[in-house]
Amino acid sequence: MTEYLSYTFNDSEEFISTFDELSLWSASFGLLLFKHLELKPNLTVIDIGSGAGFPLMELAGRLGNSCKLYGLDPWINANKRAKQKIKNYGLSNVEIIESSAEQIPFDDNSIDLIVSNLGINNFDNPQIVFKECNRVLKSKGKLALTTNLCGHWKEFYNIFYTTLKQLKKDDLVVALKKEEEHRGTVESVSKLYTDNGFKFCRYYEESFEMKFLDGSVFLNHYFVKLGWITSWLNIFPKESLEEIFSALEQNLNSYANENNGLTFTVPMAFFEGEKI
Ligand SMILES: C[S@@+](CC[C@H](N)C(=O)[O-])C[C@H]1O[C@@H](n2cnc3c(N)ncnc32)[C@H](O)[C@@H]1O
Repeated sequence: MTEYLSYTFNDSEEFISTFDELSLWSASFGLLLFKHLELKPNLTVIDIGSGAGFPLMELAGRLGNSCKLYGLDPWINANKRAKQKIKNYGLSNVEIIESSAEQIPFDDNSIDLIVSNLGINNFDNPQIVFKECNRVLKSKGKLALTTNLCGHWKEFYNIFYTTLKQLKKDDLVVALKKEEEHRGTVESVSKLYTDNGFKFCRYYEESFEMKFLDGSVFLNHYFVKLGWITSWLNIFPKESLEEIFSALEQNLNSYANENNGLTFTVPMAFFEGEKI
């Protein structure tokens, strides 16, 4: 039943070759990004955490050849795929740079716009990334990003907390709370801007829902395993995993049975700041 507990992400060419061009997950945030991003000619742009090429290729297509775009990501196999897309799509205004945004290989004051779709929760040190973005941006250059916010899948976390309490593992609730709350809030993200040399200009909040038939399919969904399962497994003692996740799966399934499936809310926001 808990086969997903032994999941490890196999970062191989075989995997990436079937990794969809754009997951529905990334697409929801990308739509929010494109809804609010201002498109202008003659921009030099970096997409931080460009992964397999989103929103980089789409933005390159929408901005056209007066603009030059760079995708920055340390993920080797995703970068290979992104490079293949540049070739397949015949894009002449995009390059991929294999690098961490903690050390952006560009001169000071050289970039007009930096975007990042779903990057911020994945950076080990967002403060350093924001400082680097500020260094390479020209004066009045923009940093626009989208992210999911604290409150992500709150319905799931509530069932998870109840499960831990039922198992008399109240001590583990704190660890789960910490994992849940590592996501930003409007206040914490705006502070990242203002602490690192930006004027915080605007933000827009939205949310969407993800539905699953039951807890078993949720925990076995390939993207849930890829994106979240490891962070949950890492916070609990190894010897308790089987007990915790069996009980969680059962509770999710009972809830789904009584409520016509599972519906999890994803709060998200677009943020934009300008280099002072
Ligand atoms: C959730 S994925 C988002 C990928 C893509 N932007 C999308 O919308 O689908 C986060 C990306 O950030 C990248 N990443 C993590 N740490 C990074 C860093 N320090 N600098 C640049 N990219 C980083 C990961 O390799 C991954 O591709």
